[in-house]
Amino acid sequence: PAEEEGPCGDWTYHEWAEAFSTNDLARTLPPRHIAVCRVQTGGRGRFNRQWIGEKGGLWASFTVPLDTPHEASSEICWGHLPLVAGVALLDMLRDMGIRNTRLRWPNDLLVGRSKLAGILVERPSDHMAVIGIGVNVFNDVAGIAGMVQDPPARLSDLLPDCPSVHGVMAALASHLDRVFTAFSRGGISALRDSLALAWAEPRPVTVFTDDETVQGIFTGIDDQGNPVLSLPAGRARTIPAHLVNRLKE
Ligand code: BTN
Repeated sequence: PAEEEGPCGDWTYHEWAEAFSTNDLARTLPPRHIAVCRVQTGGRGRFNRQWIGEKGGLWASFTVPLDTPHEASSEICWGHLPLVAGVALLDMLRDMGIRNTRLRWPNDLLVGRSKLAGILVERPSDHMAVIGIGVNVFNDVAGIAGMVQDPPARLSDLLPDCPSVHGVMAALASHLDRVFTAFSRGGISALRDSLALAWAEPRPVTVFTDDETVQGIFTGIDDQGNPVLSLPAGRARTIPAHLVNRLKE
């Protein structure tokens, strides 16, 4: 059982001192609950990469209801949930006064070139998704720098008055609630304005699919959430999101 439980805005949170992965714990909860832990020993990222979850960071998984019939339309599709979480994180950080933040498609939150937060969405059932979010807050990031792909950033280095980990969870929960509600009603187009700013300036990337490697300038996403690259000679190329194995800057 969780050590501590209670309301967190319109969510209910369950906090464990230690967990293997909050995404696993969240699977057992109903929608609109949060599984959070102080130390996460088996945290995972996309492609089964390890996510190091030492004390002082926010390691939390939010459960959201999915309305299966809606998903026949491409507008509201669970594959867009990483973008929903990304927009919630960006809005939260902007509220805290942090500039220079951006998303790296589809689900990394960077400050400059450093990674502040990661998102891992999983779907345990037809009717629920788990949005796992890791945010470096006070945790020791210097110690993990050599073990992770991107140089890590943490909130307490960016904010003189950094909120507590609980404070960050509450702020994120409220933004996620708002962004998810807008998305459930209007699909990804409801996030169009926020997403237009989310990528910051266009930058060169390499996209890997099973069949090819495409180099170009990432300019944003189309209405379905697929990455759009500008290629030499002014051509644009949209790569179906489900074919992308990796996008490297
Ligand atoms: C990534 O960068 O690839 C995503 C990292 C996601 C990490 C969070 S921490 C809370 C939740 N539990 C997990 O096991 N992973 C996510």
